[in-house]
Amino acid sequence: MNLRHIAGIAAIAGVALTGAVVAQSNSGKVAEASFADDGAVMAPTDYRRWVFIGAPLTPNALNDGQASFPEFHNVYVEPSAFDHFAETGEWADGTQIAKELVMLREGSDCTEADGACFEVSGNGYFQGEFVGLELTIKDTGRFSDEPGGWVYYSFGHSGEPYAETAQAFPAESCNSCHESNADTDFVFTQFYPVLRAVQGN
Ligand code: HEC
Repeated sequence: MNLRHIAGIAAIAGVALTGAVVAQSNSGKVAEASFADDGAVMAPTDYRRWVFIGAPLTPNALNDGQASFPEFHNVYVEPSAFDHFAETGEWADGTQIAKELVMLREGSDCTEADGACFEVSGNGYFQGEFVGLELTIKDTGRFSDEPGGWVYYSFGHSGEPYAETAQAFPAESCNSCHESNADTDFVFTQFYPVLRAVQGN
């Protein structure tokens, strides 16, 4: 049931909208994630329609065959959070950023040695299958104990289907590296040309 339906039912019933619904639409600068009663976050379902900001790649061939994340990292920002960042240069409470891991393409055109493939456009790396989904959310109210209000989740590091919910990692697992090394409020804007473009960098 969406907000319009809720508003319609409330109007028919002659009752005021609940505080929760009003709060959601007013704070509504950015769309917020859903959480289960135990605090787990629900996996986003439409993140491949969010704003695609970049695809960092740390292949095994350049990491002694042992990259922690040898896949492409396709990164997407929830659109209303992207708009807020583009307008203000700041990540709003509620911001959601998804990172989907995508294997290098494999096949007869590709080499075992370095994972590169020779395709019609040239020799290089191409995307194969989806193999993992991570999410970060900023909310300085809900996550007031976390540095910067950022929390980090994984819905699995293997093929689909991914987990439907995830619990937050402890800050030392994820948050601390982001805090120390990312350019803009825990987010690695230095690796995302789409964000640098709206920052004017
Ligand atoms: C050692 C440093 C380090 C740790 C630890 C780390 N990350 Fe990251 N993370 C990065 C870097 C660097 C990027 C951007 C480039 C890339 O994806 O390779 C990134 C990007 C991301 C992004 C995309 C948004 C952004 O901030 O740029 C998400 C989501 C993410 N990481 C989730 C996680 C999760 C979940 C964990 C813990 C399980 C984690 N990270 C731990 C370094 C780290």
